[in-house]
Amino acid sequence: MSAANERPKKVTTHVLSEMKMKGEKISMLTAYDYSLASIVDQAGIDVVLVGDSASNVMAGWETTIPITLDQMIYHGASVVRGVKTALVVVDMPFGSYQGNSREALQSAIRIMKETAADAVKLEGGVEIIKSVKRILSAGIPVMGHLGLTPQSIHKFGTYTVRARQEEEAKKLVEDAHLLEEAGCFGVVLEKIPAKLAGEVASGLKIPVIGIGAGNQVDGQVLVLHDMLGINQAFSPRFLRRYHNLFAEISGAVANYVEDVKTGDFPNEREQY
Ligand code: KIV
Repeated sequence: MSAANERPKKVTTHVLSEMKMKGEKISMLTAYDYSLASIVDQAGIDVVLVGDSASNVMAGWETTIPITLDQMIYHGASVVRGVKTALVVVDMPFGSYQGNSREALQSAIRIMKETAADAVKLEGGVEIIKSVKRILSAGIPVMGHLGLTPQSIHKFGTYTVRARQEEEAKKLVEDAHLLEEAGCFGVVLEKIPAKLAGEVASGLKIPVIGIGAGNQVDGQVLVLHDMLGINQAFSPRFLRRYHNLFAEISGAVANYVEDVKTGDFPNEREQY
């Protein structure tokens, strides 16, 4: 029986917590549109993340900072319409929750009402804990995100590995516990040493999903366009490419161009 056939009807935050208890790894990928979300869901993914990486891979911006709440809602609603089984988490974009907790709650409510997603994700620890608590108090499931938090790129200055130094590692561990105590159902750890990520995962009851954080965590997430090889420019050490869709698509397009130019397309069977 395939993994997809063994799955429960709908993945919930409760299912993820049971998976952690059973030692079953959690698979998570991004998606930003109906068609790809539907493929990813049918292939058996546990969690679909409508990441603000849409700013990079969908809109071509260099950072995740420009994407707006309206744009995230557009992507979120498109993904939700394509997903039947996976848990759908929508990233709260930069500027939609850092101001104050009231604004954060309003943004989260808009995401939940206008996309019908299952949960939201926010970047940061103690700095945003008030917002996290206020969103949770409205009954909205929250996922945390620590380590490399791309919305703070102008503070960090680089996309290099985070929490290598003791002080930053200590803060990350404290933040992770703070998020768990507040009631988050899971945490993403991005680009931190594998040993530290493993320690965080074993110290928390909630699932810890890594990206560039080694294999001692409870699950993995990748950006869909990166793992499918659509985006050739981005090639960090943690990325495993499962396909070369750039070559596949450009080959198909080149064949189409040639067929149109030579008059081979459409042929007699392809016309009325
Ligand atoms: O926006 C995103 O795709 C993310 C993942 C990298 C975890 O937050």
